[in-house]
Amino acid sequence: MTAPNLEKLTAETCEIVREVAIFLLAEKGKVENQQIETKSKNSLVSYVDKTAEKMLVDGLQKLLPDSVFLTEEETVETQEGDYQWIIDPLDGTTNFLHDLPCFSISVALRMKEELVIGVVHEVNENETFHAYKNGGAYLNDKKISVSATTTLSETLIATGFPYYDYSKVKNYLKMLEYLMQETRGIRRFGSAAVDLVYVACGRFDAFFEYSLNAWDVAAGILIVQEAGGQVADFSGGKEYLFGREIVATNAGIAEEFSKLVQKAFSEDSTMSEHSDNQGFV
Ligand code: IPD
Ligand code: CA
Ligand code: CA
Repeated sequence: MTAPNLEKLTAETCEIVREVAIFLLAEKGKVENQQIETKSKNSLVSYVDKTAEKMLVDGLQKLLPDSVFLTEEETVETQEGDYQWIIDPLDGTTNFLHDLPCFSISVALRMKEELVIGVVHEVNENETFHAYKNGGAYLNDKKISVSATTTLSETLIATGFPYYDYSKVKNYLKMLEYLMQETRGIRRFGSAAVDLVYVACGRFDAFFEYSLNAWDVAAGILIVQEAGGQVADFSGGKEYLFGREIVATNAGIAEEFSKLVQKAFSEDSTMSEHSDNQGFV
C-alpha cells in the first residue's frame, strides 16, 4: 500500500468522528440502568460505546482497507498490522452514563508502530482536536500549542484518580498532597483523552495518571507532542503508550514535573514539609 496523505486522512477521520459524536449526543441521558454492563470493577459499558465503535470501525476501514484495529470494545479481532487504528469510542463512559458533560471520542493511527494521526473530539463542547505527524496540532482547525508556564505555582494540573487499580494509591496520594499545596489546583474531569488535549492547548499545564490503556492515550499523545509538549512514563522513559503510566506536560515544567512523579512513585517516597518547599525526599 502506498503511504497515505496524512493531512487528507486526518480530515476524513475528523469527519467520521464528528458523525459518531452526533450519535453519542443523541443517546445522552437515554441509557437505562438495565442497559449498563459492568465489565470489571467500575468499568461500565452500554450499547452506546459498542455502537459508536462499530460506526468508527466501519468508516475508518473504508478509508484504509488494509488497516487493523485495537479498540476498547473489541469489535475487531485483527490487531497487528502496518496500519493500526487505536480507538476509544467513548472516553468518559462514567460521565456519559451519569449525564455529566465531559466525554470524548479518541482515534489514533499508527504506521509501522509510529503514531501518525491523533483525533480527539470533546462531544459537548463540539471541539475537535487533531494532529498528524510533523503537521502541528489543531483545535477546530486553529493551531494550538502548550502553555508557556515555567513555574509550578502557576500551573493547573489534570489527573485521573485510581478507581480499580489501587496498587500505587499511596504514592499517588503523596503526589496529590504535594500538588494541592504547590500548584493553582488539580482537576479530575473523567476523560483522559480530554485531559491530554487540554494540555496540548494550554488549558492544563500537566496531566498524570496510571493504569490507562493505549486507547485512552494514543491520540492525545500525538496531539500533545505536536503542540510542543512532552510525554513520558513515570520513570521519565518512553513506555507511555502501552506502559499504563503517563505524564504529559508543557515544555517549561517537563523536567520538574517528571522528577516529582519519579520521586512520588519511587517505593520509599516521603514528602517534606510544605513550608520547606523541597518536594519529595
Ligand atoms: C476512562 C477515562 C478516565 C480515566 C480512566 C479511563 P473510559 O476511560 O479516560 O478519565 O480516569 O482511567 O478508563 O472507561 O471512560 O473509556
Ligand atoms: Ca477510555
Ligand atoms: Ca471507553
